[in-house]
Order: sequence, then structure tokens, then C-alpha cells
Amino acid sequence: MTVTVRGTQLARLLGRWHALPARRRLPDYVALASAIRGLLADGRLPLGVRLPAERDLADALSVSRTTVSAAYRELRESGHLTSRRGAGSWTTLPNGHRVAGSGLWMAEDDLDLIDLSCAALGAPQEMMSAATAALADLPRYLGGAGYHPTGIGELRAAVADQYTARGLPTSPEQIMITNGVLHALDLVLRLLVPVGAPVLVESPTYPNALAALAGRRARVSTHGLDETGWDADLLLGSLRQTRPRLAYLIPEFQNPTGHLMPAPLREQLVATAQRAGTDLVIDESFVDLPLDGQPMPPAVASFDRHGRVLTIGGMSKPFWGGLRIGWVRASAPTVQRLAAARVGVDTAGPVLDQLVGVHLLAMADKVIADRRKQLANARDALLAAAAEHLPAWRITRPSGGVTLWAELDGPVSSALARAVESMGVRVAPGPRFGVDGTLERFLRLPFTQPIPELIDGVRRIAAARYDLDRTGSRPQWSEPELIA
Ligand SMILES: Cc1ncc(COP(=O)(O)O)c(C=O)c1O
Repeated sequence: MTVTVRGTQLARLLGRWHALPARRRLPDYVALASAIRGLLADGRLPLGVRLPAERDLADALSVSRTTVSAAYRELRESGHLTSRRGAGSWTTLPNGHRVAGSGLWMAEDDLDLIDLSCAALGAPQEMMSAATAALADLPRYLGGAGYHPTGIGELRAAVADQYTARGLPTSPEQIMITNGVLHALDLVLRLLVPVGAPVLVESPTYPNALAALAGRRARVSTHGLDETGWDADLLLGSLRQTRPRLAYLIPEFQNPTGHLMPAPLREQLVATAQRAGTDLVIDESFVDLPLDGQPMPPAVASFDRHGRVLTIGGMSKPFWGGLRIGWVRASAPTVQRLAAARVGVDTAGPVLDQLVGVHLLAMADKVIADRRKQLANARDALLAAAAEHLPAWRITRPSGGVTLWAELDGPVSSALARAVESMGVRVAPGPRFGVDGTLERFLRLPFTQPIPELIDGVRRIAAARYDLDRTGSRPQWSEPELIA
């Protein structure tokens, strides 16, 4: 079903379109068409949504209907709008561009590179003592078969205790241990999303989640985030109108934007999802990483009265990705159904690694306090380097997580990523985080590497940006990068 954007909603997204400096030279209709194209290119206005009727938008913007009509004509001519008499006009990209959603993004091991593509820290120093203690525990398990499809009891209990301590009472039966957060997502999708079912995600979002959705052949629609985060009206409106089977959201320090969803929207989200018949998959990968000492809003699941919310989380971001420990928090019967689905995939996770997880969780207070300190310093150093070397970029300071989402001075993200690779820096360009080749004006910069590498990386990116202008190899936004 096509989502319709109301005139007032589009007007809010457009903001001060008429006050842009470049606009002084442009007729109203050209400026309006260009602002709408900008929203599409930034992924804030999804593809395939129906734009408001001309009169509705004209009223909302206080311009004449002729202006809107001419702007829509411009958009049709440039391939950004398709209209059918009686059915309305909906957003498209030129030449029918649409990128396959198989954009698996993985860092390669190359020690000479400054790798800013991977948003993950090295292991904490406590890793070795946790591993040693786990080895000492192992004999307790050796007499059994070693298969624990929902995870070993002591790790399930430790994870449940963490939720209870956050104010979300949880029993071990509600926890299923997985091989990382992505594995948790994949299992949930297997259980809940039939092939071709509609799924709502944020744009931008975590690329490997898009790959998991592509693997399930889900029909993905997007909710575009802006510099302040989620637009409550549009997000809830999308749920009401499209009634997706499932929505995958990252409310805590969203990857890549770093936004934190406010408590009131969390509550509205759960209520609206319940009415729409949508299951919410809430990815809490970054929940342990507020960096400004701020109190955290209640977990999304704390507003759930009907078993609509499945929370996924894990140890990769606060502890170490190499541990491959994640989990699902759901109702006890859902956990049993997930375990049944798992039997046809990998049966169970490694016992020794789970024991390491138990010991690391016992040291969580210390490990996470150190991580927060390290990340806050790295964030501030990266922001300072970007302000010095790339002053034309707009970057909102995230209050947590591990990434900055930079708005560039032009639609050059893919070209810049290619150029900077030859200077020994790897970055993930904006389109990696979207489903349709948009987001060319954005670049994700993680602050998980040591500070000297971050500063050196920014210097090289600035040099590559300068070269792009000199060599004139700047691509047009209308030719989105295809991601295989
Ligand atoms: C939002 C989000 N979810 C899941 C993952 C993957 O976690 P794991 O390595 O535990 O599978 C990441 C890793 O970057 C992430 O950013």
C-alpha cells in the first residue's frame, strides 16, 4: 500500500525551503522542486510515497497552486515523480533506479588502512581474565551434550538480570542467546517475516540489517530520519497506513545517526504498532553507550502490554564483536519458537564463549565505564578534527553510540569514499545505509579507532575532498551509486 504524505507533513519536512540563499536566483517552482529532490536524495522522503494533492501542498506552504503544479511538472520531467490521473503522484528516482538491497558491508583485514568503515572497538583488557575464568568453568559442562539452543542458563540469567536492573523485569526464560545481534535479527525474521512481507526500517539504517532483510526477501519501506531524529507524525502515520508485518528500529544512538528516541515517542510507537498489527524489533546494540552521563529513557519494551516488542541486543559494541554473543528478549513462548527455528540453522552457540560472556557481564560496570570515557574522548577529538579540516560539513554531536553522521557539502559520498581509499582510508559512504541509492550527501564516521588515526583519517578525507573539486569528478546526484 502506498503511503500518502499530507501537505502539512511535507511542508514540515521542507522547512525553510524558500529561505535558502541559492533560492534568491530561482523562481518559486524551481526552488520547491529542488527542495523536494533534496529530501529524496537525503532519504528523508522515501521513494514510492504519494505526494499531497497540489491544493493541499499549496495551502500548507502558502504558495499558489500554479507554483506547486509547476514544481510537480519539473519533478516529473527530471524523473522524480510519476503521476497517474486519478491515482496521484508518487516519488521515484530517474531512470527507474532502485538499488538491490544486498549491500552487505564488511570490513576487510588490512593493517595498512585507517579503517573508518567498521564501527566497533577492540576487545577490553578484561577479555583475557574473563577467558581464563571461563576455561576454569568449562569442566562443569563437559559431561553434557553441549547443545543449548536458547543458551546456557547462567548467561540467560545474567542477561535477564541486566534488563531487570534497567527497570524491565525479565526472567531467564524470556532470553535466548544468539551468535551476535545480527544472528538474533535473522532468527526473528525467519520466525516473523514471510517472503515478500512488508517491513519498515529507518533511513539511514544499519546496512547488514538491510542485507538480512534482503535475505528474507522482505518488502522494505523507510522512515527518513532528519537532523533531530524521528518525525513522530510521519513514523506513526507510516505504521498506520502501511501496517507493516514488522518494523526494525534502533532507538538508542541509532546507527549511523547517533539519535536517541525520546520516551514519549517510544510509548506512542508501541501503542500504534499494537493497533497496526506490527511487531517491533528493537535493536539495543548501543544502549550501554550514553556518553554524556545522561539518564536513559525507558526501554521500548517497557511500554509493551501485548508481546509486540522483541528486543535484540548483545555484547559486540560495549564488549567485543569477536565474542559473537547476542540475544533476543521476548515472551517465553516466543523464545521457544525461536529455538525451534534455530534448530534448522545452527542448533546452538559455543558453550565456552558463553561462559566468557558470563564473566564479562559480571565486570560490566568497570568495562562499560572505561568504554564510555574512551568513546567520549574519541568523539570530541573527531568532531574537533572535522571542524578544523572540513568546516563546510554539518555534524550534529551525538550524545552516545560510536558514530558521527556527517552531512557533506555536496552529493559526493561514494566518489569521496573511492578517492580516499587510494589515500589509505576506508569509509562507508552514505548510500550504504539506505535502500535506494540515496544519502549521497552523507558519510558515517565512527570514533572507535585510536584518536591519532581518527585525526589522520580526517586530514586525508579533507585532502581527497579538495582533490575531487579540483579534478571535477563530482558526480551528479541524479546518478545514484548502485550497490551490488
Ligand atoms: C545496529 C546494529 N545492530 C547489530 C549489529 C551487529 O552486531 P553483532 O556483531 O553482534 O552481530 C551492529 C554492528 O555494527 C549494529 O550497529
